Amino acid sequence: MKIFIDSANTVEIEKWLNMGVVDGVTTNPSIMLKDGVFDIEAGAKEIANLINPLPLSVEVTSNDLDEMLTQARLFASWEPNIVIKIPQINQDGVPCYGVINQLEKEGIKVNATVALSLSQAILAAKAGATYISIFTGRVSDEGGDANQVISDTAAWLEYWDYPSEIIVGSIRSVGEILGAAKAGAHVITIPPQFLNKMADHKYTRETVKQFIADARKALELMGTARGKLTNNG
Ligand code: E4P
Repeated sequence: MKIFIDSANTVEIEKWLNMGVVDGVTTNPSIMLKDGVFDIEAGAKEIANLINPLPLSVEVTSNDLDEMLTQARLFASWEPNIVIKIPQINQDGVPCYGVINQLEKEGIKVNATVALSLSQAILAAKAGATYISIFTGRVSDEGGDANQVISDTAAWLEYWDYPSEIIVGSIRSVGEILGAAKAGAHVITIPPQFLNKMADHKYTRETVKQFIADARKALELMGTARGKLTNNG
């Protein structure tokens, strides 16, 4: 299973990248805004260069299907590791699978985003999307069973031998991360604060503290024993 970082914060991206636990980065316009990246081109190029050759997902910002195509081609031309996020449907409910299909035919990798159901994931896979982003938090917001959607999608992709990879995003807790991992997510894209939470455990800290304290005591005792030996010798 891969871990992507769901962020446009280059300090956090670099930090986790250097730990060897991150396989890619996802963004969207809301994440870029929150992380202070107002110039999409400059921000995307900086992140793409930082993580090269790992993939960076950048989302189109138009509701118009033709404009999505134009934007996608432009964004993809910025750096070779940029993947284009296209939603399943636009804000008026118009399916965007034709855009996904056209871009993939042109060799531009697509992350079919904001999937909230198995039916959407099936259509995205049929259209040839490289990635399908299932938004676990938003499925749960509506009372849906997100892990069921993930496991059904994973089973369907495997049974019919579709190469699309499921990215689980919209993470609201470590519990959701573990649920998605067990449900068969190929990738989970995680906001930095939850990577910290995954690593942390109060009892691990206490145990490490105990080991360091005992190592110090041992050093002191070693010093005392040496002192005695010197005085006696
Ligand atoms: C994933 O690719 C998305 O960027 C993100 O996880 C969406 O999460 P949200 O539901 O918190 O907006």
